[in-house]
Amino acid sequence: MKAVFESELLGMELVKRGKVRDVYQTEDRDKLLIVACDRLSAFDVVMPTPVPGKGIILTQMSNFWFEKTRGIISNHIIQEDLSSLRGDDLDHNLKGRAVIVRKSEPVQIEAIVRGYISGSGWNEYKRTGSVCGISMPLGLKESEKLAEPIFTPSTKAPAGQHDENIPFDDACQIVGENMAKRVRDISLELYSFAADYAFGRGIIIADTKFEFGISDGELILIDEAFTPDSSRFWPVNEYQAGGPQRSFDKQYVRDYLESMGWNKKPPAPELPPDVIDNTIEKYKEALSRIID
Ligand SMILES: Nc1ncnc2c1ncn2[C@@H]1O[C@H](COP(=O)(O)OP(=O)(O)O)[C@@H](O)[C@H]1O
Ligand SMILES: [Mg+2]
Repeated sequence: MKAVFESELLGMELVKRGKVRDVYQTEDRDKLLIVACDRLSAFDVVMPTPVPGKGIILTQMSNFWFEKTRGIISNHIIQEDLSSLRGDDLDHNLKGRAVIVRKSEPVQIEAIVRGYISGSGWNEYKRTGSVCGISMPLGLKESEKLAEPIFTPSTKAPAGQHDENIPFDDACQIVGENMAKRVRDISLELYSFAADYAFGRGIIIADTKFEFGISDGELILIDEAFTPDSSRFWPVNEYQAGGPQRSFDKQYVRDYLESMGWNKKPPAPELPPDVIDNTIEKYKEALSRIID
C-alpha cells in the first residue's frame, strides 16, 4: 500500500496539519474534512517515516467506536463514506481515511482515563504517590489495574510542546467546573463501556484520551476514539502487572526509540522497515480483534 504522509486536496483550504490528521475547511463553514494520514508521532514528535495504511485503520476504528458510543454522547461524524462527495476528484488515496465532521470549538483539556497505571501516570506515581493530584494506594505495581478508573486530564500543549498532566481543580480553572465535571463523567462512562467490550475480545484498554468540542451549543466527542494512537492496548492473555506490557499500540516504536538512545527532540530518526512492518501488524491485529 502506498503511504499518505501528507494529503493535498487541491482547491480546499487547509486549516491545520496536526501530528496525524490534516484538517480542511469545506464549503459548508460548519463542517470540516479530516484526513487521517500515515504519520506516526511518538513522544509528541512526528516520525519522518510513515506507516502505510495506518490512517485507514485509525479511521475505521474511530468510526466503529463513534457509532457504538452514540448512546453515551453524540460525536462529530457527519459522513464516513466520501466516495460520492468529490466524485473523480477525490484522490483515491484518501479512500477510507477521510471523514466529514461537525466543526466544533475544542474544549481546552485532554480528557484522559486510566484503568491501569502506566506511562506518565506510573512515572508520576513513583515520584509522588499520586496521579494528577489523586492519591493512590501504596505499593502499586507498574501496569497494575486500579480499583476504579480515574480521570486524569492534561493541558492541550501548543505544537512542539508536551501535554502536562494536571489536577482536576486545574481542569476546572481552564474550562469551568461544570464543563470539567461533564467531561469527566462522560469520559469515565465511555472508558468503562469500551474497556468491557474490548476485554471480551482479548484487549485491555489500559488508558485512553478523548477530545471534546462544542458544536451548536452541544458537547460532542471529536477527533478520534479508542485507537491505538490515543490508547494503550494490551493483550489480555499476556497481561501481568509488575512491569511494562507488550502492546498493540505504538509502544513498539517508543521502545525502539528508547533503545537507540534518541533524545526525544526533533528531528526524529527514520524508523527501520522491520519496526514499520511490526507496527502495521500491531495496528491490524488490534483492528481485527475489536471489529468483526
Ligand atoms: N470536530 C472537530 N472540530 C474541530 N476540531 C477538530 C475536530 N476533530 C478534530 N479536531 C482537531 O483536528 C486536529 C486533528 O489532528 P491531529 O493530528 O489528531 O492533532 P494533534 O496533533 O493535536 O493530535 C486536532 O487539532 C483536533 O483538535
Ligand atoms: Mg489528535
